[in-house]
Amino acid sequence: MDELQELEKIRQDGLAALSHVADEAALEAWRVAHLGRNAPVMQVFSRLGQAPKELRPKIGQVANQVKQELEAAFQERATALKQAALQRALTAERLDVTLPGRRPARGRLHPATQNLRRILSILGEMGFQVYTSREVELDEYNFQLLNIPPHHPAREMQDTFYVESPQTDGSYSVVLRTHTSPGQIRAMREFSATNPDNPPPIRVALPGMCFRYEQITARSEVQFNQVEGLVVGRHITFSDLKGTLSDFVRRMFGQNTRTRFRSDYFPFTEPSAEMDVECFVCGGKGCAVCKKSGWLEILGCGMVHPTVLQNGGYDPRKYSGFAFGMGPERQIMLRHKINDIRYFWGNDLRFLEQF
Ligand code: PHE
Repeated sequence: MDELQELEKIRQDGLAALSHVADEAALEAWRVAHLGRNAPVMQVFSRLGQAPKELRPKIGQVANQVKQELEAAFQERATALKQAALQRALTAERLDVTLPGRRPARGRLHPATQNLRRILSILGEMGFQVYTSREVELDEYNFQLLNIPPHHPAREMQDTFYVESPQTDGSYSVVLRTHTSPGQIRAMREFSATNPDNPPPIRVALPGMCFRYEQITARSEVQFNQVEGLVVGRHITFSDLKGTLSDFVRRMFGQNTRTRFRSDYFPFTEPSAEMDVECFVCGGKGCAVCKKSGWLEILGCGMVHPTVLQNGGYDPRKYSGFAFGMGPERQIMLRHKINDIRYFWGNDLRFLEQF
């Protein structure tokens, strides 16, 4: 009789303990304790031999029932726990599909590229076509054909990166272009080659990176962009240069922008000039950006030197032309009062994201 009472207690204890089980770990612990090899109900089976013979079938039968009942209860609990876990996960990880999406970070064009493209699109409207020339140049194109012979003092205007070691005569032949002007020769030669006896007129814009061997400071960088313009044809005069450039700056900086030309020197133009625009920061009244002068220097220009025309395959007795060169970064610096050119290639997003 004792064993039967014991089994009833085992049953009740087991079910009671199971009702407190709240997670998978506790459930496993419960299984080991109540259905494992040393569980009380299993011990009843082991002791069966010691019970009086006539009671053994009854005890065995009841022990089996208790074991099955505990097993069934265990299964039920296991299923219930799984359900609850799923429910919890569904609530905790619920997706609100009505929330606005997270915007992916979008890149943008570098301010120098933005301004470069703006200049090119304005020149494009004025009938210039873009001519892309190389960044690694021959000394011949960068200097000599532009009327700057070796050892000419004008070379000191543009400190140069040489790409190879000196030739036997001490000269270098490959350089990083110091300006976009060598593209003038390349464009003229390509155009004149199409019809050497009667070369076609040219109206091109030459954009791109230039390099100078300089100490990097707030005012000078080793790399910067330029946009060059070149017009060659018959009867091109200095007034075409003035008219074209004045029109360009009005499109670029506003219809009322005033300009002035000052004489200057470049070996590849004659005469040469520097063009100023009325300070677009103070409107010409005089401020820190224009250093109280009311004017900003924005490009160099001039009539293409006869020797340069000749080098390009254009007979200077029949053809004339003008050229100009400007710096997109410098324009941005003036316009936005940026006082340090190093920001442009410093790769600091706090600077770049403002454009
Ligand atoms: N190449 C000159 C410079 O870099 C600018 C320039 C271009 C001047 C074309 C005249 C004509 O300073």
